[in-house]
Amino acid sequence: MQIHKKPRWALSENDVTPETVFRGRRALLKAAGYGVLGAGLAGPAHAGFFDNLLGNSGPTSDGEVDPTADLYPVGRNDDYQVMRPITDEKLATTYNNFYEFGSNKSIYQAAQKLPIRPWTVTFDGMVEAEKTVDIDTLIREMPLEERVYRHRCVETWSMVVPWTGFQMSELVKLAKPTSDARYVRMETFMEPDIAPGQRQSWYPWPYVEGVTVEEAMNPLAFMVTGIYGKPIEEQNGAPLRIALPWKYGFKSIKSIVRFTFTDERPVSFWEQLIPNEYGFWANVNPEVAHPRWSQAMEEPLGGNARIPTLLYNGYEEEVASLYQNKEGEKLYY
Ligand code: MTE
Repeated sequence: MQIHKKPRWALSENDVTPETVFRGRRALLKAAGYGVLGAGLAGPAHAGFFDNLLGNSGPTSDGEVDPTADLYPVGRNDDYQVMRPITDEKLATTYNNFYEFGSNKSIYQAAQKLPIRPWTVTFDGMVEAEKTVDIDTLIREMPLEERVYRHRCVETWSMVVPWTGFQMSELVKLAKPTSDARYVRMETFMEPDIAPGQRQSWYPWPYVEGVTVEEAMNPLAFMVTGIYGKPIEEQNGAPLRIALPWKYGFKSIKSIVRFTFTDERPVSFWEQLIPNEYGFWANVNPEVAHPRWSQAMEEPLGGNARIPTLLYNGYEEEVASLYQNKEGEKLYY
């Protein structure tokens, strides 16, 4: 018999908006309007920030049928749930950070221009044999499941999202790294003709992120191919992104084309740009402020109350052991 024990992160949070109220709002968020060029991520949401509403227009469809659409929806793994309302789909799919398409939150229409087929993913560096695989073959080979995860952006907004995908450990197994590999460097596509943000030369394109191989093997590290029971759309990082729910959202790199196994710690996009604000580890910790704002509280998208941020975003029991014996490391930015 399979026993499902209530996981540690399924915490009750009484101070959040009841789901009925929340779902009733059907409101969209207006573009942030913060000046961010060269200044890094936008900074915290403030009181009233989410009260600027647009009409009820959803993301535009590019009319293409995803070749893996028949696989969805996928059964939910109840070991991964959050005792907080799931964020309204429209909010999660129209309020985005995807600097390749612009530095405001309303990039969902511009992102539809990204051609997500054909798409290949390359595994290279310290692996038994380099290989490039077609995304549809990869998705069909992997054990897909749905998981509901928290997502905490470094800017202080947060959401709760049902992602579909597979454990990153499966990807590592497929890549077959050699025993010398210590890190996985991940890279987003580079298409300046399609993605206007990539023509802005002050950014260190392409977007790069990294984790240790040990972090990649942690069961929480999740490769995402779908959202809300459907194939993931361009604005959320189609056709393949990652969800690292215990880390600030900028670690969750979108539209990945390359995984490089290496013994050198990767320097991420944001770290390259502003090293004193964004580091390699970026684990969520409400007690360690960003140099320009507090991280103690967060504002759920669509909610009307700020709630306390949790250590490791509520996943402490699952991941804290990864960070023992790391004295001297800046683990929380
Ligand atoms: N990945 C790429 N390639 N480009 C980006 O600008 N933004 C990051 C992350 N992944 C980003 C990215 C940030 S700051 C956040 S908070 C999340 O994506 C936002 O994911 P969402 O738009 O699906 O909510």
